[in-house]
Amino acid sequence: MAINIMDVAKRRGFFWPSFEIYGSIGGFYTYGPLGALLKLRIERIIRDHYINRENCLLIEAPSLTPEEPWVASGHVESFTDMNVECTKCGEPHRADQLLEEKAGIATEGMGLSEIMKLIRQKGIKCVKCGGALGEPYDYNLMFKTFIGPGKNKISGALRPETAQTTYMPFRRLFELGRKRLPLGVVQLGRSYRNEIAPRQGLLRLREFSQAEVQFFYDPEAPVKHPRFSEVKPLKIDVVTKNAQKKKTTPVKMSIADLVKKKHTNEWIAYLLGVSVNLFERMGIDPKKLRLRQHRDDERSFYSSDTWDVEFMSDTYGKIELVGVAARTDYDLKRHQEFSRQKMSVNVDGRVFIPHVVEVAYGIDRPLYAVMESSAKLDGDRFYFRMPYEAAPYQMAVFPLVRKDGLPEEARKVYDMLIDAGFYALYDEGFIGKLYYRQDEAGTPFCITIDYETKKDRSVTVRNRDDQKQVRVKIKELPEILGKVMKGALDFSKAGKVINK
Ligand code: GLY
Repeated sequence: MAINIMDVAKRRGFFWPSFEIYGSIGGFYTYGPLGALLKLRIERIIRDHYINRENCLLIEAPSLTPEEPWVASGHVESFTDMNVECTKCGEPHRADQLLEEKAGIATEGMGLSEIMKLIRQKGIKCVKCGGALGEPYDYNLMFKTFIGPGKNKISGALRPETAQTTYMPFRRLFELGRKRLPLGVVQLGRSYRNEIAPRQGLLRLREFSQAEVQFFYDPEAPVKHPRFSEVKPLKIDVVTKNAQKKKTTPVKMSIADLVKKKHTNEWIAYLLGVSVNLFERMGIDPKKLRLRQHRDDERSFYSSDTWDVEFMSDTYGKIELVGVAARTDYDLKRHQEFSRQKMSVNVDGRVFIPHVVEVAYGIDRPLYAVMESSAKLDGDRFYFRMPYEAAPYQMAVFPLVRKDGLPEEARKVYDMLIDAGFYALYDEGFIGKLYYRQDEAGTPFCITIDYETKKDRSVTVRNRDDQKQVRVKIKELPEILGKVMKGALDFSKAGKVINK
């Protein structure tokens, strides 16, 4: 039986289409209690890695901005998709996707007129009503608005990426980073794209979350990373841009090979390796990940080399989880030109505009990939096998019955666990149903307070993955669970096993 993640997500309150009571609009999802927590955990894994391990500065800028920076960045002119509407019902379609889906023709590198010629040749009609399609046009994906009232209002836009809101204060950040390069800056937040026809749930949203990291560096310094050796041995399926020309299948390569065989530089290779490791930590199946280099004809207008880490979804095919792009000095140069503010730096007497390598994570897509990777069926039992670090709750605490002082005891255990820093949940009800609910929430441990507890101050701890139960003294719970979660103690040795 295939597991439908979207169904489980709605039923258990991970996420659902927004504005349901007014009829939903494509591209907007609301995270419910479990999804919002899962999202926090995922964001934390990325954010803490870049702050702690890569020495990045964390910033948070507004997502509503004046329009001017987006003229500078090129988004006002070039951030477009090809739209074609039905002449009868008005349904919009992405022209390139329509041709690919309906005629199986690869549209990479094709212009608007060529795509439209083929759509007409193949007799492709509106997918909704079968009507004739009109003239296609380049449609800008930015949401535009006004800031302030009346005559003096200014044109505004919702940011389509966080990146520009990190580039704008670059000079200030350079000072704060003690005028050293490379300088890493990480920003998490919402971005907005007015997609033509978003259909794939969380995978194409009009309002979405990103975690984007910008490394500013001296283009004349050697492109080396001091911790490259940590990711060098990692092996993964790779599709280079040349392989795509020859239409060959992915080749298993190490991160070291990417550099040795001159597919990319050491820094980009390092960041790809780091990203794969972070995805694995979240619980994404590493066997379903691959690296793909953008072809010359698909790269964004600002990039000289871009790679994606893709997840091969059972349901949706390939999903881009993160892009690592060499953005050169394009963005800073453009902001210098349009704002007339200096973006250059003086390092050891050399004055230059730094170059940028960007790591752009989506958050919503990795969240989906975590759910798909960790969904397990064991006979009739369904559970999410999420890692301890990613699960919305790490443990749940229940009294066996709602009487005889057991709820009060259970509350005390719950308080002790949250005071010890665990993400815990308290609940009451029929024990079988409580276990079932926590399996569907991905909660690794269920702790039950029963009549024995009053006698010997111990509780039952149930392990989500194999349903084994052990008996543990209350006062030892934080230490023992901490050890199990760190991998320093096997669950079956955490206490007296009371079932097999
Ligand atoms: N900043 C790159 C992106 O949003 O895709």
